[in-house]
Amino acid sequence: MSVHTEVKKVTTHTLQKMKQTGEKISMITAYDYSFARIFDAAGIDVILVGDSASNVMAGHETTLPITLDQMIYHASSVLRAVNRSFVVVDLPFGSYQSNSKEALASAIRIMKETGAHAVKVEGGEEILESVKRILGAGVPVMGHLGLTPQSIYKFGTYTVRAREEAEAEKLKKDARILEEAGCFGLVLEKIPALLAKEVSESLHIPTIGIGAGKYCDGQVLVMHDLLGINTEFKPRFLRRYLDMHEQITTAIQHYIHDVKSRDFPSEQEQY
Ligand code: KIV
Repeated sequence: MSVHTEVKKVTTHTLQKMKQTGEKISMITAYDYSFARIFDAAGIDVILVGDSASNVMAGHETTLPITLDQMIYHASSVLRAVNRSFVVVDLPFGSYQSNSKEALASAIRIMKETGAHAVKVEGGEEILESVKRILGAGVPVMGHLGLTPQSIYKFGTYTVRAREEAEAEKLKKDARILEEAGCFGLVLEKIPALLAKEVSESLHIPTIGIGAGKYCDGQVLVMHDLLGINTEFKPRFLRRYLDMHEQITTAIQHYIHDVKSRDFPSEQEQY
């Protein structure tokens, strides 16, 4: 007799319920099959195939260069690994801003070619038509407000956003607009904790913070930062759970030593 254990998949409804019951949502980025498989099995709620792949996978300074085809490559690798987690994929810079038709075409490519469960876009009122058109096709959309890295050349720096009244007011308005349009959730990046609290309490949809404090309905971190693969990036909001840079360096140095000293492979490790 085979024992069939059904996996309870995370959906937008699960995330909505978690907001209502106060259970915090865990989210992490992933860009490939092997890590996504570990994160999914470990029980992460949401995996974000972020356009931060442009930085951490391709070594670019910003998220701007990554293309839709490259995002599709990363996302399809992640989706092949996932059983339970909800997977959100970033629409990259230039794939949704020029008009809503192009935005929908990009979202459809992501959904069709990767098996993703939702897309994420950066911005508020200025991309509303695109958001509505994607939602109109039945594709779940996650918003992203505050520090939106695709606009880095407009901001000029990666410092905390919306400290000033006018920007905070715009952010609150954009959050309302995105919820009314039908977004299922919102990433809030690098804004004051009290502003994130006000936004989180005013919305029915969950907010996921990165550098936005403890009052958000969930938290997201870039996997390379959380696992200590990146050592140069040390923002105040980051908590490191591992020092993979150190651990990998030590392992590789052992391997080099073993090869050079003829210790590897041994009699038992050959045919
Ligand atoms: O691309 C990304 O990794 C993101 C997170 C920082 C939220 O958008």
